[in-house]
Amino acid sequence: MDTTEPATSRFLRACRREAVDVTPVWFMRQAGRYMPEYRALRERYSLLELCASPELAATVTLQPVDALEVDAAILFSDLLIPLAPMGLPFHFAPGEGPVIESPIRSLEAIDRLRVFEPREDLAHVLATIRLVRARLAGRVPLIGFAGAPFTLASYAIEGGASRNFARTKALMFGEPEAWHRLCDTFATVVGHYLSAQIEAGVEVVQIFDSWVGALDARDYREFVQPHSRKIFDILDGTGVPTIHFGTGTSTILEELRDAGGDVIGVDWRIPIDEAWERIGENRAIQGNLDPTRLLGPIERMFDHVDDILARVGGRPGHIFNLGHGILPETPVEHVQALAQYVHNLGSSHGRAH
Ligand code: CP3
Repeated sequence: MDTTEPATSRFLRACRREAVDVTPVWFMRQAGRYMPEYRALRERYSLLELCASPELAATVTLQPVDALEVDAAILFSDLLIPLAPMGLPFHFAPGEGPVIESPIRSLEAIDRLRVFEPREDLAHVLATIRLVRARLAGRVPLIGFAGAPFTLASYAIEGGASRNFARTKALMFGEPEAWHRLCDTFATVVGHYLSAQIEAGVEVVQIFDSWVGALDARDYREFVQPHSRKIFDILDGTGVPTIHFGTGTSTILEELRDAGGDVIGVDWRIPIDEAWERIGENRAIQGNLDPTRLLGPIERMFDHVDDILARVGGRPGHIFNLGHGILPETPVEHVQALAQYVHNLGSSHGRAH
């Protein structure tokens, strides 16, 4: 069999906790502003224009695959893309991040949300997936993604980024029925959207619950877990591996795991072996270098990679990644050196321990 075939790739194998030749590595936000090729395109097109054009989005998806030794491509899109067809238009304000034009402030607004058909309303995303798969020609697998209900709800309610999620939690605690209805709608939308991405050709899906670390375990169980679980239940029958990612989740790892995910993403705030012990050996783990380690000095960065790989100790099911996305100010050479370093060392640690 052709060993470059995605079905036999080390990334897919690690998702299933099968033995690999070397530790697979990819990076969240591996396509983005730290890359000169990306910045050159951004001089001519806005972020949303890049996401809306299958040709441009496919080009950007492949930029890091060509520039770095990564073991996976991730669809170039944005977490917020499904909000617009739901009836929540948004834009990116320069230097400020996303702005949702009419944030959700009432039960009526929740009832008005549209459960859209991704094959019609987000057909361009599915076209990007088909184009990327064709251009990859089996080089590395393609990851699709979507936001989890809590993180999507936080943008829909706050209207943009938030520090303390005050409005989000006010709705959650003050109007639990409205909260559950909102999150159930997001779970349905995301379940349909990811199913359509899989049908179009993504080989792994990652669910980003980037900000869910704002909750304690009890509130996670009551207000979030049933909705995130609904998405994993919808995806269960597809046979496609799922990655469940959040940041600041050290205190809710067990609850996050119980919502679902073949692979659990962990950030740098917890040692990876400790996280894995709590999550259990029957899940794969993705992580967990602090993205600021990539700023340098490079020898210190390597020390931390050594530490992560030693803690993993060659257990099958480790996917090397950062604890969160690559920062725009990161030198490309450091990202290249990191991917190479993981590939060189990712197998010898297991033997040494
Ligand atoms: O390479 C990849 O990882 C794939 C592409 C990708 C983007 N956004 C493109 C993007 C992915 C997976 C996302 C996910 C995303 N988007 C998340 C979850 C992941 C995370 O980082 O926690 C969130 C919360 C968003 C929403 C979002 N998009 C914000 C808050 C911002 C502004 C902040 C920032 O970093 O500038 C974006 C913009 C964005 N999405 C950029 C990229 C490459 C940077 C934008 C640019 O070119 O102007």
